[in-house]
Amino acid sequence: MAVLPPSTLGMIGGGQLGRMFTATAREMGYEVIVLDPDPASPAGSLASAHLCAAYDDAPALDELAARCAVVTTEFENIPAAALQRLAGQVEVHPSAEALAIAQDRIREKNFIRSLGLPTSPFVVLETDADLDRLEGMEWPAILKTATLGYDGKGQIVCADAAQARDGFAELGVPCVLERRIDLALEVSVVLGRDAAGRCHAYPLAENRHAGGILDVSILPAAIDEALAEQARQAAVRIADGLDYRGVLAVEFFVARDGALLVNEIAPRPHNSGHFTQDACHCSQFELQLRMICGLPPGNLQLRTPVAMLNLLGDLWPDEGEPDWAGVLEIEDACLHLYGKKQARPGRKMGHVNCLADSREQALDRLSRVRRVLNRL
Ligand SMILES: Nc1ncnc2c1ncn2[C@@H]1O[C@H](COP(=O)(O)OP(=O)(O)O)[C@@H](O)[C@H]1O
Ligand SMILES: [Mg+2]
Repeated sequence: MAVLPPSTLGMIGGGQLGRMFTATAREMGYEVIVLDPDPASPAGSLASAHLCAAYDDAPALDELAARCAVVTTEFENIPAAALQRLAGQVEVHPSAEALAIAQDRIREKNFIRSLGLPTSPFVVLETDADLDRLEGMEWPAILKTATLGYDGKGQIVCADAAQARDGFAELGVPCVLERRIDLALEVSVVLGRDAAGRCHAYPLAENRHAGGILDVSILPAAIDEALAEQARQAAVRIADGLDYRGVLAVEFFVARDGALLVNEIAPRPHNSGHFTQDACHCSQFELQLRMICGLPPGNLQLRTPVAMLNLLGDLWPDEGEPDWAGVLEIEDACLHLYGKKQARPGRKMGHVNCLADSREQALDRLSRVRRVLNRL
C-alpha cells in the first residue's frame, strides 16, 4: 500500500540532504519529523516537528516510529542498532544491513568485489600484523579510515610503505589502503530502487573534485555510451545485491587506461545528484520519497544540460554574506542554500545549478557564478 499525503514521514539526520528531502515532502503535502541532535539543524527548521535527540536515543526513536508511516535517513553513520530498533516498529528504508555495508569501507569494498565488480586494488589494515600486506602494494596509494570519513577527511596519500606505516599509526583505526588511480574522469550514478526491486536511474553525472570534496557536477557527462551503460549496470548490480530500497548513489573512477572502477556507494541522495532539482522533473529527493512510499519513480530524464557548483564555507567573507544578488542576475543560475549559520572552510553551505542549452554554456555560466562569488 502506497504511503500518500498527508502521511507523516520520518527523517533521521538533519543536514542539507534531510532539509531538501523535507522541503520536497512538505511541498507535496506530507508531514516530516526530523530526528537530529543539533537544535539548529538545517532540516529541523523546515520539518513539521524536530525531535532534538541523539540518533540512538531510544524514547526518541520509539516516538518517531509511533508517529511516522515510514522512516528514512540522509546520513550513513546512523548506528545500526538505532535502525534495527526502528525496524521492529515501522517501515525503514534503506535497511540497517545496507547502511552497515555503506558505512564501513572494508565491508563496502569486499561487498563490491563479491559482486564481481572492479575497485582500485586495496589491502585492509586492521592491526600491525596486517602491515605485511604492504609488500604487494603499488604506489602511490591512499590510506582511508574504514569508517566516518567524508569529503576527503580521514585520508592520507602515501608514496611508499614507510609512509603507509606512519599513516596507519597516526590514524590509529582500521583502514583500507588503495592504489591511487590515474584518473581520466569521475562519474556517478544516482538511482532509486522500488519495492518490487526495479531500478530507476538518472543520467550519469561527471564529477570534478577539489581537495577531496565535490566541486562541480556536469551533465551530460563526457563519457561514451558503452561505458555509461557499464556504470549503470554496475550500480544496478550493487542495488540488487543490497536488496536496496530508496535512493542509492554509486561513485566511479574512469582510469586513464579506460577501466571503470567502483569507488564507493552512498545509501541516500548524493551531492552529485543535486542537478536533478532543476534539470529533471523528479528530483532525487522526490525519488527518495517515491521509493520509500511505494510510488512510481516519476520522470528522471534530463530536461536540459546543467552544471552544479558546490558552495563551500571558504566563499563566505569574514563579515556578511556572499554576493547573492550577483549570482541571481546570472541567467538560469538556480541558487540553493542550506540555512547553516556558521560558514567554515570545507563546509557545504549550498550549491548553484546552472542550466543551459549545452554543456559548454552551462560551464560558462558556472564560471560566471564562481567569479562573482570569488569577487573577481
Ligand atoms: N584511489 C583513488 N585514486 C584516485 N583518486 C582518489 C582515490 N580515492 C579517492 N580519490 C579522490 O578523492 C575523492 C574523495 O574520496 P572518496 O573515497 O570518495 O571519499 P569520501 O568519502 O571523502 O567522498 C574522490 O572522489 C577522488 O577524487
Ligand atoms: Mg566519495
